[in-house]
Amino acid sequence: MTTYDSIQYETGDAIATITVNRPDKLNALNAATIDELHAAFGEAHRDDGVRALVLTGAGGKAFVAGADIAELATMGPLNGIRVSRQGQDAFRFLETMGKPVVAAVNGFALGGGLELALACHLRVASSKAKFGLPEVKLGIIPGYGGTIRLPRLVGRGRALELILTGEMIDAAEAHRIGLVNRIAEPEQLMAETRALVGTIVANGPIALAMALESVDHAATSSTGNALRLESDLFGLLASTDDMREGMQAFLEKRAAAFKGR
Ligand code: COA
Repeated sequence: MTTYDSIQYETGDAIATITVNRPDKLNALNAATIDELHAAFGEAHRDDGVRALVLTGAGGKAFVAGADIAELATMGPLNGIRVSRQGQDAFRFLETMGKPVVAAVNGFALGGGLELALACHLRVASSKAKFGLPEVKLGIIPGYGGTIRLPRLVGRGRALELILTGEMIDAAEAHRIGLVNRIAEPEQLMAETRALVGTIVANGPIALAMALESVDHAATSSTGNALRLESDLFGLLASTDDMREGMQAFLEKRAAAFKGR
């Protein structure tokens, strides 16, 4: 297992837990941290023993308080494009690697931190978490996919309110608008996130990957194309041992033992 400087990477119970670990900077994402995240996503992707990921932040205060402003402060236009694409590429890899990802949002999720949570498939928030896209206060826009993923998740009007005001919302409001799936008390956050992920990883891993693929593809394609891919993936799953095991287990009234084949 690789050792990282700015993140922690742990595996257990078929789950890779990645913790952004710069608590003195509220886990702000500098370029080195984004590189490490991308590498850790690759590590989880390649490990057949990992069936899902959990992302969280170190320390009691922040999930991730955004891109590292000290580093961004000196960028010029070309550098700016590179910075944006570096984060976009890492987050898109996470979103499309075929394993479910759940963010355990334990505090501030601002700017690039909210964008990282948005690239995860589900979000569980501490009741103390705060969410926002404050980029316009700094004279920039969200550059790690926030202007694309937030409107798709919560609707254009609600997304634009966050993007244009730069103001924060609390966990209850984030839950109300569908930005987070569940809220937990801070001390219960990791246990509740793991319970949710445990329910997910009990299911067939190839089915989970195909479900993610179909939903992702449907977001940007015509109904006809999306339905076509759905039926192709449905047919593909009918070729798996896991489908036979899942249905046999139901008929025999026992839990399925999926092998990812
Ligand atoms: N980039 C770089 N450093 C950051 C940071 C960021 N996005 N967010 C926090 N930090 C650093 C602070 O500079 C401070 O470092 P220091 O102790 O060396 O001065 C440390 O983390 C603690 O933050 P601080 O601002 O003192 O905590 P706070 O409780 O007063 O405020 C926030 C918390 C989240 C409201 C505040 O840190 C903040 O607004 N951060 C920036 C959020 C942002 O604009 N993100 C989008 C970036 S594109």
